[in-house]
Amino acid sequence: MGKLHVQVANIVIPVPATTEAKKSTRTSKLSALVGLAVFAALATLHYCSLHFAAAPRSPTTLRFYANITQPRGICPSVRGDASSYAGYIGLSGDTEDSPRRSFFWLFEAEEDAPNAPIILTFGGGPGTTGMSRPLNSQGPCLLTANDTIPNPDRVTQHYNLLALDHPIGTGLSYGLKVNNSQDSAVDVYDFLQKFFLLFPHLAKNQFVVLGGSYGGKYIPNVATVIQEQNEAIAAGKSTDAVHINLESLMISNPSSDPIAHYRWLLYFYCELHTVYDAETCTEMYAKLPECLDLIDASLQHTGFSDSANAARRAARESCSYIAWGGDTHGVMVENVHTRCDEENTLDCLPHFKWLDWYFHDSAVLRELGIPPFVNFTALSDDVEAEFAKTGDVMIPTHQLYEPLLAKGIRVLHFIGALDGNCAWPGVLSFLKLLKTPFQQEFIHAPDIPWPTADSDAATVRAVGDGAGKMTYILIASGGHFPQQDEPALVKDIMEHWINNRPWF
Ligand SMILES: *[C@@H]1O[C@H](CO)[C@@H](O)[C@H](O)[C@H]1NC(C)=O
Ligand SMILES: *[C@@H]1O[C@H](CO)[C@@H](O)[C@H](O)[C@H]1NC(C)=O
Ligand SMILES: *[C@@H]1O[C@H](CO)[C@@H](O)[C@H](O)[C@H]1NC(C)=O
Ligand SMILES: *[C@@H]1O[C@H](CO)[C@@H](O)[C@H](O)[C@H]1NC(C)=O
Repeated sequence: MGKLHVQVANIVIPVPATTEAKKSTRTSKLSALVGLAVFAALATLHYCSLHFAAAPRSPTTLRFYANITQPRGICPSVRGDASSYAGYIGLSGDTEDSPRRSFFWLFEAEEDAPNAPIILTFGGGPGTTGMSRPLNSQGPCLLTANDTIPNPDRVTQHYNLLALDHPIGTGLSYGLKVNNSQDSAVDVYDFLQKFFLLFPHLAKNQFVVLGGSYGGKYIPNVATVIQEQNEAIAAGKSTDAVHINLESLMISNPSSDPIAHYRWLLYFYCELHTVYDAETCTEMYAKLPECLDLIDASLQHTGFSDSANAARRAARESCSYIAWGGDTHGVMVENVHTRCDEENTLDCLPHFKWLDWYFHDSAVLRELGIPPFVNFTALSDDVEAEFAKTGDVMIPTHQLYEPLLAKGIRVLHFIGALDGNCAWPGVLSFLKLLKTPFQQEFIHAPDIPWPTADSDAATVRAVGDGAGKMTYILIASGGHFPQQDEPALVKDIMEHWINNRPWF
């Protein structure tokens, strides 16, 4: 491992100055992390400065790049300026010459931040910034066309929100990219290990992972790595790593199981709604068998050999035509009750453009400590292109939930009913097919109106005590980004879920 630069600037961490992070990270299962051994302790904390004591406990010293600021005046909240930390952590393989640096923004809970649950969130895509969810719906402030305003529906009232630009190449993260969700999950684990060395008092807190869309690929992979490493720690095989208190997962409109997705997509496009007209539906139904056969063929392969990648790329190409190849006559796929007559659909999703002005604003970049060579894009074509090389989108990830659920990790799906991008029938289908201890119960559970008995806002299908071990919520007026369409309702859902409170 090359010599890494360690630099921590402008960091204030609200823990006693005597706190020491003596942990180090060693893991045998993850080759990408081998070589990270000991982290120099967090010794003294001063306002606006943090020194690392050179106190290695083993011959190999873990030194990693971290440059963290406490931004001021760029995110007004209901309770004044939001309290947050933002910056970069160098991931495995990071060197001065060839950086691999993850940008994060931690928005602190307004109430009892040192003990509040942590919600880790990232974007979809692949290549969509993780800053969208905090700044467009769930963080302390909201973007408008030209301003930032306090957010009444912030989840940061009770929870710490840790937004990550993931994977590398997305948003403000920069450096050598990965080309699949499995490798990128190892990067997230590496990031979290280092994050909890910098914020050791948060490691004990309830930890929840939140995402949507391509998050349906990322989240099961990330949760699997965390769970496996936690087990290795518990078995004494990885004594130096930090245990992460993974408790549950929250997923909106996911892309997880390609088979269920495509089997049910045209039902949504053609039977439930008229995304395509009759002629296009006929054309696409005729192409569906080829798409499903190619997915089947790709599933005969595992791993990332040339033939496996090629089989998945073939399936992706054939199936993508069904989803995106037809004329929708102005129906916006992300919310079929909305019309979009623009050439570029993004013009109808202005939230992404608002991120562009915000992350090119010089005051914002200065407060966040963004180096001048980083040029923010809300959706990275380069990351998308990397993942396309392996056909990652065609790798099913839903079955990864089975061992997680069996081990007590709770899983919530909250789905906007009007989304045709990751449409609910495919999601409900794969959830019913999951082989879990409560499969039959889930299949037969009713969808009960919520929040009131005669409400048509949402329905809840829950199995297990409290908010459920496995729960499916359908949000009637939500699209691909239900948290943007129904922010108060989604906040309510998350508070029930994280506190594990019964719905009824
Ligand atoms: C901000 O945008 C709104 C809506 O487009 C517009 O009415 C207002 O004049 C703009 N304000 C500034 C300061 O540009
Ligand atoms: C850390 O970030 C600051 C901006 O916040 C920058 O001026 C400084 O050069 C960075 N340090 C390193 C070592 O990258
Ligand atoms: C940043 O990227 C945008 C869009 O790709 C481009 O228009 C702009 O010129 C770039 N800015 C810099 C400073 O490179
Ligand atoms: C994906 O990334 C790995 C690791 O960098 C590389 O070895 C592999 O060739 C890449 N796959 C493709 C299809 O580019």
